[in-house]
Amino acid sequence: MLRARVALNPAAVVAPVSRRTFGSFVEHMGRCVYTGIYEPDHPLADEDGFRTDVLALARELGVTMVRYPGGNFVSGYRWEDGVGPRGQRPRRRDLAWRSIETNEVGIDEFAKWAEKADVEIMYAVNLGTRGVQEALDVHEYINHPEGTALSEQRRANGAEKPYGIKVWCLGNELDGPWQTGHKTPEEYGLLAASTARALRSAEPDLELVACGSSSSSMPTFGTWESTVLEHAYDVVDYVSCHAYYEEHDGDLGSFLASAVDMDFFVNSIVATADAVGARLKSTKKINLSFDEWNVWYLSRFQNAPLPEEWKVAPRVIEDRYNVADAVVVGNLLISLLRHSDRVTAACQAQLVNVIAPIMTEPGGPAWRQTIFHPFAKTAALAKGDVLRLHIDAPTYETAKYGPAPLVDAVATHDAATGDVTLFAVNRDVANPVEFGVDLSALGAGLTVAESWTLTDDDVYASNSKDAPERVTLRPLTDVPGGAITVDGGAVTLSLPRVSWTAIRFTR
Ligand code: AHR
Repeated sequence: MLRARVALNPAAVVAPVSRRTFGSFVEHMGRCVYTGIYEPDHPLADEDGFRTDVLALARELGVTMVRYPGGNFVSGYRWEDGVGPRGQRPRRRDLAWRSIETNEVGIDEFAKWAEKADVEIMYAVNLGTRGVQEALDVHEYINHPEGTALSEQRRANGAEKPYGIKVWCLGNELDGPWQTGHKTPEEYGLLAASTARALRSAEPDLELVACGSSSSSMPTFGTWESTVLEHAYDVVDYVSCHAYYEEHDGDLGSFLASAVDMDFFVNSIVATADAVGARLKSTKKINLSFDEWNVWYLSRFQNAPLPEEWKVAPRVIEDRYNVADAVVVGNLLISLLRHSDRVTAACQAQLVNVIAPIMTEPGGPAWRQTIFHPFAKTAALAKGDVLRLHIDAPTYETAKYGPAPLVDAVATHDAATGDVTLFAVNRDVANPVEFGVDLSALGAGLTVAESWTLTDDDVYASNSKDAPERVTLRPLTDVPGGAITVDGGAVTLSLPRVSWTAIRFTR
């Protein structure tokens, strides 16, 4: 059996785990909002029309922050359409997803949902078709306490207290030619800087996110961030990153190594941002908000044009996820955690129905996709500090990334409880890998408290409405190819082929 090794050192701290790593995304797109979080006619809807089954799953998922209301949608959105008496709200065309937006849900409703789900809102303003004034207006509506036209309008609409949203995205993917209001980096840098300055005049301690690249394959990757930050460095806190991964043409090996690209993305943009900071002689650091990431079979979407007919909440990109997809999602979380010193916010895109961990049927059940499981366990078990690991692992050849390590992992150490949790993937498509974990630097007496593994004989197995528990987590010792051997401070794990595992040690 191939062998990998790692030694955990509690003094090698990357950074504390940022709870905002476990963010998600609700866009007015497809069935994410309508028949996703909101379905007033559903038997399980609450007094506000929210599906309580979806709320319960969102809480179980451990989501901490939700980006809203888009996405490509936001670049044509008029926020004021979504406030006030429902009967008077206009129906509009959403050009991004060629659908009808009824505006039944707007910021007041979403803020209610967020309170029930116990999540922070990350709010995106429209810098596609709109500009500084509209950003100031929506900020006044959302965050100004009282005594002005828009804050009083909010109060009249039932929200006496301001929502106090801290994190604001300055537009969405404006580097992408598909974006309504697509801009050059100079145009966007200037607009982002003036919008940021105006928002800061209203509320100085907002946390502002400038748009970065929509993917590491964009032709402007790196130069976009550099130009934008030349204009906006002093007035923004984050630059965003977006990345989606899929298996292409049966190349499972490359797909399983997707986190290699995420590591490259993060390292490149940290270097780019720091280079701009150095040129500006600034001591400030710009952090990364990885506010759209996931597995998305984008090529299937690109090959199937949006429907001709303008519909409310059409079924759009309802990808059904398999075991391999879940292993990749778990590995992408490993990558995000590994970079916790600079990636301090992240949002899996999206939460419900649209490339999502939670699926629903209108009038019917809600269930967990395979990708739900690694997210929920990582959110629950990653506590305290992220530890820097040097993993000694054999490599395998991938068509896309060259040689990639067979095992990838990250660990967290909670000094308050002494618990240590290791998150690991085996990317080998055929065989288990032995993973030796040296815990001796953490002192004597650690024992295995729990272990959870996602794997299956069929790497393409998935969950569905009729088989919602087909793929789930099991203890590592209960899965074929899985084993744990403890010998003092030396632990040996056998990680099954194509698997994701979390293992918590305690005293
Ligand atoms: O999440 C789906 C879409 O992907 C978002 O609307 C957009 O920002 C990205 O291209």
